[in-house]
Amino acid sequence: MSGAALRIEDRDSFVLATLDRPEKRNAIDLDLIAALHELCATLEAVPRTLVLQGAGANFAAGADIAQLRERRADDARAGINTRAFMRVHALPMPVIAVLDGYALGGGAELAYSADIRVGTHALHIGNPETGLGIIAAAGATWRLRELVGEGLAAEMLLAGRVLTGEEAHAAGLITHLLPNGDDALAVAITIAERIAKLDPAATQASKRVLRAPRNAHPEIDLAEQAVLFDSPEKERRMTAFLNRKQQR
Ligand code: COA
Repeated sequence: MSGAALRIEDRDSFVLATLDRPEKRNAIDLDLIAALHELCATLEAVPRTLVLQGAGANFAAGADIAQLRERRADDARAGINTRAFMRVHALPMPVIAVLDGYALGGGAELAYSADIRVGTHALHIGNPETGLGIIAAAGATWRLRELVGEGLAAEMLLAGRVLTGEEAHAAGLITHLLPNGDDALAVAITIAERIAKLDPAATQASKRVLRAPRNAHPEIDLAEQAVLFDSPEKERRMTAFLNRKQQR
């Protein structure tokens, strides 16, 4: 399972997907979008944590501008990148993005669709779309506001401000700031391995509840909890805790 531009590696506790067009700074073209859909179909059928990174010290320098230039109104309405990134965002298990170098335009929007972002000092993340005569229509206008607040989101979207790794960390856009890509990947793997020790049903329920609209709370929390309260895994995990001293 792999499109030419998306390298997929099955690790024990997660799936590692690498955007792999380093000669084009991992610009997201139609092949990459198709490969992302194929990966999502797999992870929807058998939920796994996904770690997303870019090859060659960049995450992704945007949607492929050569293809974008040829797209017309109907292509915009089809939401080619938007629908793929929404599908990534909606994956049942957590998605962790490892952000090094450039994460611009559609590359930044793919990063915003992740649940957890870690990055490096070399990171440059932002949305220069208006400089190309278009808007950032693949998630930035709603996700960035939620992630960094309206003021900074407005400066990034209206004035094209690109954040450094330090600025992205200070804004909470990335939750770990590392010296280089290898260290950032190592932290992402540590997070994925921590997730693997948790109950996957509870993790997936937490993600659904976390992503639910404000007016769905607390009913959605209670409905999800009701399912988990009756689960054998909850019984097993709580019993193991309560018996832990006898087992020493
Ligand atoms: N779409 C298509 N091709 C892209 C691309 C994109 N978003 N970003 C980079 N590339 C291509 C370049 O055209 C170049 O191809 P070539 O070697 O065939 O000429 C190759 O990737 C390397 O890019 P280059 O600009 O030479 O690398 P750099 O390291 O000097 O600069 C960037 C990197 C990211 C600063 C620069 O490529 C850039 O500004 N890219 C566009 C960013 C952008 O506006 N993204 C938003 C798109 S929605």
